[in-house]
Amino acid sequence: MGPSNLLSAVNRGLCLAFLLSKAVASVVPRAAYPGHDPVLVIDTFKRADRNDLGFWHGGGENMPLQWGDGYVEFSPTNADQNFHTQLTSSCIDLTPYKDMYLHIVSEGASHFTISLTQNNPQCDSYRNPYPETWDDVEAMRYMRGNDIYIPLSHFNIDHTHALSVSFKGFYMPEKLKLSKVEITATKPDKFRIPKKLPTGKLFLRCKRPNSFAFGIDDGSPELGREIMNILADEGINATFFTVGNGMAAANTAWSDLYRDMARRGHQIALHTWSHPRMEGLKTTEEIDQEILRNLQVMKEKLRLKSRYFRPPYGVVGARTRQRLAALIQDPYIINWSVDIQDWLWAGTPTPEKQLEAFQRDVDKGGDLVVMHFFSRDTVMYTKQVIDIARKTGKRIMRVDQCMEDPEAPPLD
Ligand SMILES: *[C@@H]1O[C@H](CO)[C@@H](O)[C@H](O)[C@H]1NC(C)=O
Ligand SMILES: *[C@@H]1O[C@H](CO)[C@@H](O)[C@H](O)[C@H]1NC(C)=O
Repeated sequence: MGPSNLLSAVNRGLCLAFLLSKAVASVVPRAAYPGHDPVLVIDTFKRADRNDLGFWHGGGENMPLQWGDGYVEFSPTNADQNFHTQLTSSCIDLTPYKDMYLHIVSEGASHFTISLTQNNPQCDSYRNPYPETWDDVEAMRYMRGNDIYIPLSHFNIDHTHALSVSFKGFYMPEKLKLSKVEITATKPDKFRIPKKLPTGKLFLRCKRPNSFAFGIDDGSPELGREIMNILADEGINATFFTVGNGMAAANTAWSDLYRDMARRGHQIALHTWSHPRMEGLKTTEEIDQEILRNLQVMKEKLRLKSRYFRPPYGVVGARTRQRLAALIQDPYIINWSVDIQDWLWAGTPTPEKQLEAFQRDVDKGGDLVVMHFFSRDTVMYTKQVIDIARKTGKRIMRVDQCMEDPEAPPLD
């Protein structure tokens, strides 16, 4: 055995020892951990390129970050910015930790969301959606001084497929300094845990096997009619997410359009009253008004109700999900796994990039679309993207049908 082989054998041995110590740590019973000693240290921010488990951590959506010795500090400027620290690069089974706590040590901000994400069934970052879903809690409710303790059971996800812990939904101009993320078997006795508040379920893909759904957001009423006609020619039904204030306008173009769509068999659902970044709103009252006025105008103008909600810009966090669950019975929050990227390419010199974006997400297994009807070129590509969807062999239907909703119109 040459020196380099020996070295790698030694490395493998060390690595194995390390893995074994980790595995043992995860099954040692609670009693072996008096006090609040960590069972699994996830991140102490010693290095910018990886966390204590050796996996990626970093910001998303251009989160302004500053790395220090043993901490990272965020200066978020909007509610979509986020930071993830991964427990694995595939899937980790957190079931053995389920009655333990996520312990976070931080300073500064208290108005934000903490999420535990769930990977897709393939545990694969090259499949869509990635991650598959997550659950959110409000940091402030679990914070005492510099400590946050959240029971892992307060995150309603499939704990056998956990992926990462994330920080997002910052809605006040506050900095957050994080110095520790870990799992502990116990918490300090005086630390009272709040009751879990229900959150609307978040879906990025269809539940029904071999189904595919177009979830179409806002645009202009004229182009909306053109899309409706294309869908009629193609013989498919879709879901349209409505912005309430358009329907309330004196001009009835929007309410007439949605009424016609409903008559033709499309699903009409919620997309807020005025299209804000919901989680960025400062007060619960503003969040409530966006939901309630959307429901109200749909009832007045269309005589319809819905429990399907699409968040503008895909921005939701703990408060939005809690308010949806408080105001609507069993809300379904519908994100996406196929993004045509009309927001990026429509009306540019390279509008065909929309077709490429659509194809790319479909190739990765995506089956739940987001698109708009703001631009004539997106409308022009609608038939082609329907063809791309058809080529997968999946059946195209409304979002409620692809969610196997018993109240959806039956498929024939
Ligand atoms: C679309 O909805 C209409 C009205 O409910 C229905 O008659 C039609 O069969 C549906 N089309 C498909 C493809 O399901
Ligand atoms: C929606 O999905 C997109 C693409 O996966 C993602 O960037 C965004 O964070 C998601 N938002 C929500 C609320 O699911």
